[in-house]
Amino acid sequence: MTTLALIKQHLIDPEICIRCNTCEESCPVDAISHDANNYVVDVTKCQFCLACVPPCPTGAIDNWRQVTIPYTLEEQFSWTDLPKQQELANGGPEAFEDEAESLIAEAHDGTGGKPVAPYTASRPSVNLYNRDKPAIATVRGNYRLTAEDAENDIHHIILDFGDQAFPVLEGQSIGIVPPGVNETGEPNHIRLYSIASPRHGERPNHNNLALTLKREASGICSNYMCGLKKGDKVEVTGPFGATFLMPNDPMANIVMICTGTGAAPFRGFTEWKRRIMPNAPGRLVLFFGARRPEELPYFGPLQSVPDSLLTKFFAYSRVPGQPKTYVQDLMRRESALLSDLVGSKATHVYICGLKGMEQGVDAAFDDICRGAGINWAKLRKDMRETGRYHVETY
Ligand code: A2P
Repeated sequence: MTTLALIKQHLIDPEICIRCNTCEESCPVDAISHDANNYVVDVTKCQFCLACVPPCPTGAIDNWRQVTIPYTLEEQFSWTDLPKQQELANGGPEAFEDEAESLIAEAHDGTGGKPVAPYTASRPSVNLYNRDKPAIATVRGNYRLTAEDAENDIHHIILDFGDQAFPVLEGQSIGIVPPGVNETGEPNHIRLYSIASPRHGERPNHNNLALTLKREASGICSNYMCGLKKGDKVEVTGPFGATFLMPNDPMANIVMICTGTGAAPFRGFTEWKRRIMPNAPGRLVLFFGARRPEELPYFGPLQSVPDSLLTKFFAYSRVPGQPKTYVQDLMRRESALLSDLVGSKATHVYICGLKGMEQGVDAAFDDICRGAGINWAKLRKDMRETGRYHVETY
């Protein structure tokens, strides 16, 4: 009997993919393409450089199969979900999965393995709506959050889904489909935004949610969104995200580290805790970085959140006459608190915001842990594998 050679094939999960095009844009060998239905990977071109992995906002890109006959592009275009790993006569897929895992870990800057949800998190719904079948939301409010003279124009936008089912959890994201086409005549790319409200609505028990959205100088979607008026209709895809979720555990300590609009999911976390279990023993601790108080979204409302619910540390980088301070500087200052927290298995860490902060925050944890005799690299790996360490940067 002839034994067919095993081939490693990189695939994209059509159920989770939001069709944002980042993978296609980041592939240096043009192995990724799309039609109106799916994004697909050409097995004859993909060289496993993994350039497409870190930019993918959903993790749909993190899929690998060991095959004897590779899936064709036509097959991949037709999928609505990803086929399972086939049983193979000539060897189980475990070794290959290990290899794929370590490749992914490398692509995620060595932070160790595929992210997983906290084991107590509620089960999220994902990908209920897509470009071909979007939910239509109505804008209920669009307010500027930053001061008039602030450099950052950050908005709080409330979207109402009326009678369409749109179940979300804190930490999930939605896709916005900006109308129109780009310079090459293709429909404008969907952009992903974190939900800033808790699961049962910006207004409790209303089918609505809030976004925290910054106007980018030449951003098609952010300018479209920031310009919306009450009553306007918006095409929405999603919801997305199955790991950056809140633990449903009253004992869980949650350390939240963010810059700018990265505060969005943490507003959702804080509001959910405030509404559902304000006196739960688990702590909420927030490190929040902005240029100045005037540039910090939700500065006013945050002042009225009691310390018993949320311990807050604000790092300002551009206040005249004050030293430039980043979140990682405040983390080092609060090393006693943080080493105590990360020493507990009840503690979860969430990082959201500028990509650049990731390294600084990691170095701060490394220093803090070293001072307390803890091996941070080992702890971080353990925390990630047990759904207690989450990073979402852009
Ligand atoms: P900076 O004044 O150096 O830009 P933004 O307003 O651009 O969204 O940024 C939010 C905050 O994040 C600002 O205070 C910004 O400081 C800060 N920041 C920029 N780079 C980093 C980094 N590498 N680590 C931590 N914070 C950063």
